[in-house]
Amino acid sequence: MTSLYNKKNKAVKTKKTSICFIGAGYVGLTWAAVLANLGNWVFLIEANQEKLDQLKLGQAPIYEPGLSSLVKKTVKKGQLLPTSDWQKPIKKSQIIFVAVGTPVGDKGQADLTQIKQVAKQIGQNFSGDKKIIVNKSTVPVGTAWLVEKLIKKENPNAKFEVVSCPEFLREGQAVTDTQKPSRVVIGTSSSWAFNQLKSLFLPLGAPIINTSRESAEIIKYAANSYLALRVGFIDQVSLLCEKTGADVCQVIEGLGLDPRIGGHYWYPGIGYGGYCFPKDVAALAVTFKKTGLEKNLFSLLDQLNQERPALYAQKLADCLGENKTMAVLGLTAKPGTADMRGSQAVYFIEALVKKGIGVRVFDPMGIPEAKKILTGVSFCSSVEEAVKKADALAILCEWPEFKKIDWLKIKKRMRGRFIFDAKRMFDKKKLSSLGLKYWGVGI
Ligand SMILES: NC(=O)c1ccc[n+]([C@@H]2O[C@H](COP(=O)([O-])OP(=O)(O)OC[C@H]3O[C@@H](n4cnc5c(N)ncnc54)[C@H](O)[C@@H]3O)[C@@H](O)[C@H]2O)c1
Repeated sequence: MTSLYNKKNKAVKTKKTSICFIGAGYVGLTWAAVLANLGNWVFLIEANQEKLDQLKLGQAPIYEPGLSSLVKKTVKKGQLLPTSDWQKPIKKSQIIFVAVGTPVGDKGQADLTQIKQVAKQIGQNFSGDKKIIVNKSTVPVGTAWLVEKLIKKENPNAKFEVVSCPEFLREGQAVTDTQKPSRVVIGTSSSWAFNQLKSLFLPLGAPIINTSRESAEIIKYAANSYLALRVGFIDQVSLLCEKTGADVCQVIEGLGLDPRIGGHYWYPGIGYGGYCFPKDVAALAVTFKKTGLEKNLFSLLDQLNQERPALYAQKLADCLGENKTMAVLGLTAKPGTADMRGSQAVYFIEALVKKGIGVRVFDPMGIPEAKKILTGVSFCSSVEEAVKKADALAILCEWPEFKKIDWLKIKKRMRGRFIFDAKRMFDKKKLSSLGLKYWGVGI
């Protein structure tokens, strides 16, 4: 037993325990390292050999601020135990977290291949006392039941509870979000499972709520789809602003002062992107349809968002004319991550390339991943290199270093004067006074 302190600065006694995470991605690895750092013994099962080799050396295979030092420290101390073995981790752990990927399927549904495979593997390797199987992956309502069925099919004698515990961390802030979660949702009707998990999470000082498994599964999709909806909403308002001479930034200022609405989380741009929002909105739309709710908000939101990158690529191509070159800065869906999954920049650039526009790209962290996805573009190692002889410049992601751009220097290196500001980071008046032709989303 160790004393820790919760949010109200009250000492909290927690029993250090052996737990197991399956999947060393953004969610699994971050949680495993944070819980290991709190003194738990954490087995981390990972199928990808390259990732596993790095982890065993105490190296984080993905970039997240603060993650590499946590991994190095906890692996060295023997608190974090990366492995490909299933038997010992499952036998020794009472709590087993599932944090594998749920990518988008061919019809927009959540692809549950990895989840089903893991359920099977848990069943095959099950031994020891009663366990809690905690689903941290984002999965459609009803999946906890499916996992339960699949484990039982492999091992009818296994004693366990399947709990839904959705994850809300944000890439780029995964470690701080995990150390201080906004909330912990524990979806289970078992008070035994709830109390075990509550005691594991208590040191984090977050509000902990107990819901049904179905509610927990829906909470995750509702949360991501609501945030995506705010982006989709302001993107729609931006289109109207562009047609009428209004400015979406001024509209946001006026909107946000209403306390029912708030001034936070308004991001007009070329659509929401990233690994989670696009796939989760699409999957929610499929769940609505499967439930007989054919006409629903989320199908339209997904469709409008998918159309957005090509819409802006077309607008820019119309302005530029033929045989032109565009520099594109910012490829990841948000700053602070190297993850390119679901980035709208990819679709925007593909649409430009299709129109015969030469594209020169730069991103502070995303270039290695971008090289695996993008073809027909020039990869550059700096802003200065990307803008060389470019007819236009598009800034798609709000990396802080772009705020420090020396516009006079950029103007000298560019052939043209056109600047497209997808994230409304820059002041139109200032850039215009320097002789640049500014256009931003929603203006
Ligand atoms: N990335 C985020 O910001 C985020 C935030 C909240 C929720 N989520 C959800 O959490 C889940 C995981 O997301 P992620 O970004 O961490 O995924 P990821 O793709 O980065 O990581 C998944 C890991 O699981 C491993 N894996 C797959 N099958 C395995 C198996 N059978 N055995 C062992 N390892 C296996 C993969 O090799 C991979 O390393 C998804 O459902 C996602 O929607 C992600």
